[in-house]
Amino acid sequence: MDGLDELRANWLGRIGDASTEAALEELRVAALGKKGEIALKMRELGGMSPDERQVAGPALNALKDEVNSALVAKKVALGDAALDARLRAEWLDVTLPARHRRIGTIHPVSQVTEEVTAIFADMGFAVAEGPQIETDWYNFDALNIPGHHPARAEMDTFYTHRAPGDVRPPHVLRTHTSPVQIRHMEANGAPCRIICPGRVYRADYDQTHTPMFHQVEGLAIDRDISMANLKWVLEEFFTAYFGTKVKTRFRASHFPFTEPSAEVDIQCSFADGTVKVGEGDDWLEVLGSGMVHPKVLQAGGIDPNEWQGFAFGMGIDRIAMLKYGIPDLRAFFDSDLRWLRHYGFSALEVPTLYAGV
Ligand code: DAH
Repeated sequence: MDGLDELRANWLGRIGDASTEAALEELRVAALGKKGEIALKMRELGGMSPDERQVAGPALNALKDEVNSALVAKKVALGDAALDARLRAEWLDVTLPARHRRIGTIHPVSQVTEEVTAIFADMGFAVAEGPQIETDWYNFDALNIPGHHPARAEMDTFYTHRAPGDVRPPHVLRTHTSPVQIRHMEANGAPCRIICPGRVYRADYDQTHTPMFHQVEGLAIDRDISMANLKWVLEEFFTAYFGTKVKTRFRASHFPFTEPSAEVDIQCSFADGTVKVGEGDDWLEVLGSGMVHPKVLQAGGIDPNEWQGFAFGMGIDRIAMLKYGIPDLRAFFDSDLRWLRHYGFSALEVPTLYAGV
């Protein structure tokens, strides 16, 4: 058969010159595809005499194999070259300094909640939690605040919407953490020693009030718990929390859920417009407390003839502002990154008693 040498030279040359895989594929189709030049040549074998075919057949097959091998080899070569080029282009200098990434901070409320939890845990208090959407029974009635009681109106309660015709009393966003007392007593009975930190809600907004804020409730019930235990626990707490001896002052007060009730002030000084806790002759109110009312024990399923205890409720945001000198409560919840970076804590500043909280 004539022209096989030229054919070979032509295809091997073109394959050698191909610079992309796509061009190589085009060459494969043009040479070996159904209508490719070599395939067409193969068809000519049919019209040949047996003698001619015996010579031309093997020669054509050999050419076909040779072109095929050349295509495969070139494909591998092109792939290698592409990889080399990529490796060269994607070169990375691992000795360059890392890009600066800002790290988030722990919010003062979270930090103080951890501090409070650590101090009370050291005195044997466990943490209890309850729902933020409460029935009005847990938020009010069980705490001896009946429907007509002024405390209900005073608390600026958020009520949930009820569909028309639904006569059930509405749920409320809990106005204090006190309902967790009831839930804990119901579930665990007496004796108990718990704190309940969490979010509470009241329709109020100014420099020291936001519609959502944080409280921590305390509850200790046993057979002979007294106001003296309450006073010791609170003084111990404030001294650990502020890192300095803090005197407390108990003022007779009234809460429906405690009898007797006391508001507790801590010793402080107001000098040059700043508050300093643990010194001076001024007093700052920080919490409400008292001996748990027998009706409240009963609502929680505990027999008031056998058990008694103290309870208290304190604003977490307020004691955070006092300890860390934060002037405006509203900024706590503005999510302003500059504020968070200034007042926030490093994730590694985990409060511990031995580190002075
Ligand atoms: N629940 C009260 C409030 O939100 C605070 C409080 C006062 C809680 C006295 C108590 C308590 O447990 O005994 O204003």
